[in-house]
Amino acid sequence: MLAAGLLFPSLISHVLGGAVPRSDLIPRSQLPSIPSGYSPSELWVPGDDVIRLTVGVPPKDASSLHATLLDVSDPSSSNYGRHLTKDEVAQLSSPDPESVKAITDWLGCYGITPEQRSHSGDTLSIVVSSVRANALLAANFTAYTHNTTNTTIIRTLSYSLPAYLYDHIAFVYPTTQCVGLQLSSRRKTNQASAFSTSCTGVVTPKCLQALYGIPSLPANASGNSLYVSSLGGTGANPNDLQTFLTKYRPDILHGSFAVLPITESQNTDAGDDEGNCDTQYTVGLATNVPVTYVVAGDKENGVLMSDLLDTANFLLSLEKPPLVLTTSYVFDEPAADDQDLQQMARAICNAYAQLGARGTSVIFAAGDGGAAGGMSASDGCGQKVFIPTFPSTCPYVTSVGSTDDISPEVAASFSSGGFSNLFPRPSYQDSAVNAFLDKQRNANAGLYNSSGRAYPDVATQGVDFAINVAGKGVGFSGTSASSPTFASIVALINDRLLASGKSPLGFLNPMLYSKGVAAFNDVTKGDNGDARCDAGGFNADTGWDAVTGLGTPDYDKLLDVVTGHSFNKLHSGAARVPSISRLLYTIIWMFTAVVVYRHIAH
Ligand SMILES: *[C@@H]1O[C@H](CO)[C@@H](O)[C@H](O)[C@H]1NC(C)=O
Ligand SMILES: *[C@@H]1O[C@H](CO)[C@@H](O)[C@H](O)[C@H]1NC(C)=O
Ligand SMILES: *[C@@H]1O[C@H](CO)[C@@H](O)[C@H](O)[C@H]1NC(C)=O
Ligand SMILES: *[C@@H]1O[C@H](CO)[C@@H](O)[C@H](O)[C@H]1NC(C)=O
Ligand SMILES: *[C@@H]1O[C@H](CO)[C@@H](O)[C@H](O)[C@H]1NC(C)=O
Repeated sequence: MLAAGLLFPSLISHVLGGAVPRSDLIPRSQLPSIPSGYSPSELWVPGDDVIRLTVGVPPKDASSLHATLLDVSDPSSSNYGRHLTKDEVAQLSSPDPESVKAITDWLGCYGITPEQRSHSGDTLSIVVSSVRANALLAANFTAYTHNTTNTTIIRTLSYSLPAYLYDHIAFVYPTTQCVGLQLSSRRKTNQASAFSTSCTGVVTPKCLQALYGIPSLPANASGNSLYVSSLGGTGANPNDLQTFLTKYRPDILHGSFAVLPITESQNTDAGDDEGNCDTQYTVGLATNVPVTYVVAGDKENGVLMSDLLDTANFLLSLEKPPLVLTTSYVFDEPAADDQDLQQMARAICNAYAQLGARGTSVIFAAGDGGAAGGMSASDGCGQKVFIPTFPSTCPYVTSVGSTDDISPEVAASFSSGGFSNLFPRPSYQDSAVNAFLDKQRNANAGLYNSSGRAYPDVATQGVDFAINVAGKGVGFSGTSASSPTFASIVALINDRLLASGKSPLGFLNPMLYSKGVAAFNDVTKGDNGDARCDAGGFNADTGWDAVTGLGTPDYDKLLDVVTGHSFNKLHSGAARVPSISRLLYTIIWMFTAVVVYRHIAH
């Protein structure tokens, strides 16, 4: 059912070799019962399907990768902008060869040969029938159908591993993790005035250009790139893009995007709200920057955490990864009772650290469930604590929240923001976040983890974007709209840097939280206690806050900040001087997937 990737063609092995005795297997992950809303599918016959299982191998030493990333991303470092090559990054991320050998030998006993799915070797995959997977993992893979979305997934309620492999395997996915697709919605018909330069009522490219000072002149440096993620079968339609541009950016004569599928199973032409918003607001704002729609996963399987990992690993396998990647999908941060999924989140976060080290700005929507988070129907409202969203809680991505209104801009109440329970706070945001926490005093005490990575980092408008879907103009809201907006600004700044022979921005946060602070309009009004469930939330405030981050961008000021800095000249990886001291830095450092878009017909 799950298809093997084209990039790393998989073998399905049919040899049954000697196996680990069942008695040596000890439970690794267990669900108490079938997750609510799911029931075993009656149509499914065990053994009919093949499953692709992703096996994560822990990195030998993630701390040197993180230290190197911070070194090349910190404007005060002499290595700022000296991004690494594909092989240098792979070396910093490689797993312990002993782990790989232990896993390979174990699978070999079953006649299974794993495929390497990442250049560094930290991600393996196997394609097996469910019957064989059951034998391997003492599992009971079964097809479960969701009662409202009618999606069918193959999962097991428990799985086991031989004890000696416990430390050699970070996670096996998908096993016990259930992914319920919950599309919450917010859509309305809009009659946008195409050239309105005010973002009141409806947001258009023209009004965003006016509000944030985004230039409309075409970017012209060579080597620029802006990638937009598609996961789980969402699609973008080129004709809808043309209709959109004709109406809102008639000065763009040949706006288009390339499509780059990383797996074999999808046709993306049927445009939906998410895919169309993401492409229309990148092509429509990052004028003349080449935009690529990078597609992972398919509709049949819905949005999977492995789509994020596959996309990152695919980009890391390219000689020239994108300079900017924007992704508008959000998962609940895995909770402490799911160690496997937490490990997978760490692996995904490390992949983003690798992309940052290669010079990619990795940008994510913060999520649309307010501070309560909880993107699925079963959580958020009624929870005792706030649920942070992933990947925004990864310290190596830039998370974008939403605002509404103008003069002044006000935090959008749906905009997720808060504190990670999984990733500690990185030092680059210490002083900004401490200042916020000082002002919090006892507000929301006990609902969040003040020592965690705090998000979002920045915000842009996110309410009632004019988009075109199936030839019709509709309004679209969510941090899904904010992420491509901010990504486009970063891509245009990269154009100016590349044109003057400088390095692209790469991982943004250390710059944003230091010199970059001056380039943001502080948003001090509003909160993210989503009215949806009266759950309370954080208030926007002077300085950084857990609703709008540092605020909304001012293009000219941001350009000043980054060009005023004596950037390193563009380095080829080979010319980079390795620094030993760089390696000695110390660093302080779901079940539910949700497409962050909102869909209510009015
Ligand atoms: C789907 O399952 C959930 C949880 O078991 C239940 O609350 C809900 O009523 C069901 N919906 C339908 C349409 O059957
Ligand atoms: C496997 O799971 C299915 C569906 O939940 C259940 O009906 C069946 O009894 C289970 N089989 C075993 C051996 O536990
Ligand atoms: C659910 O999906 C199955 C297979 O994909 C299809 O045969 C069935 O008609 C669908 N049911 C509904 C209610 O849409
Ligand atoms: C490239 O774009 C910049 C900024 O818009 C402009 O100043 C410059 O003249 C352009 N260069 C060329 C060769 O078109
Ligand atoms: C709070 O976050 C830290 C990481 O910063 C983590 O180690 C700790 O377990 C978290 N506490 C809870 C209760 O989740």
